[in-house]
Amino acid sequence: MKNIERRKSVRTYSEKEISLEIKDQLEQFIAKVEESYQGKFRFPIIDSKDSSNNKIGTYGVIKGARYFVCGIVKNDAMDLIELGYSFEQIILFATSLGLGTCWLGGTFERSNFAKSANLTQEERFIVTTPIGYEKSDKSLTEIAMRKLAKSDSRKDWTELFFDGENSKPLDRKGLGVFAEALEMVRIGPSASNKQPWRIVKNASRYDFFLERTPDYAKSLNFDIQLIDMGIALCHFELTLKEQGLEGKLEKLSANIPSWDGSEYILSWIL
Ligand SMILES: Cc1cc2nc3c(=O)[nH]c(=O)nc-3n(C[C@H](O)[C@H](O)[C@H](O)COP(=O)(O)O)c2cc1C
Repeated sequence: MKNIERRKSVRTYSEKEISLEIKDQLEQFIAKVEESYQGKFRFPIIDSKDSSNNKIGTYGVIKGARYFVCGIVKNDAMDLIELGYSFEQIILFATSLGLGTCWLGGTFERSNFAKSANLTQEERFIVTTPIGYEKSDKSLTEIAMRKLAKSDSRKDWTELFFDGENSKPLDRKGLGVFAEALEMVRIGPSASNKQPWRIVKNASRYDFFLERTPDYAKSLNFDIQLIDMGIALCHFELTLKEQGLEGKLEKLSANIPSWDGSEYILSWIL
């Protein structure tokens, strides 16, 4: 939870090098995550200073970062919710090591990154994040981007979480640890800070819905808001696991009522 609260996008990095020890810890963690998904995903770290790499630019969005972690998916395992979940685990682990990160789904030169990560024909390059130490002076681009996406604010609890029994906003009183888990979803990152996740509580079950932003990110040929969903599920589950609560995630086949503009995704069941 601490890392979820500490994390924010960092787009301006200092010269301070990442020590071999820290890099090693991150690589070991990444290897474990890759293993837990049986090779569906690959998360290589690429070095922008490696002269054999193509110029890996971010259109000036990211300044000063040397290393980038990449999120690559096998074509036949295009599960963007799982990609969001697993990549967020890496982002949060990097945060625990004191490293800055910034999810990038759009503003980077995808083909150069792909070449540098030795992308094969069977794979797709989806996202990346710089890693490094935050510089205290933010670049003007970073200041402008945070303003544009209103990155310092989040939707109200009442716009996001609902009570299935009466379709009213969920009352956080009496929810105990679930109130914390929902709050960790609320403060999470999402592409352009659109916050497309909605959650409906039905007794001890929590149903996750995606309320897509119309016409958003049409130029990307993947559904970026599914990644946001994976991040939300990650924050929800990690918070509950920290408190010793293990549920399961399941797509129920029963008719789960949704509303206009929303899509039922998954349920968390105790
Ligand atoms: C899936 C995803 C894709 C993102 N893509 C970009 C991007 O291409 N460029 C960028 O500058 N920020 C990107 N962001 C960062 C968001 O703008 C940022 O998370 C949001 O504004 C909230 O700010 P915070 O991360 O500081 O809490 C992305 C975030 C997510 C979750």
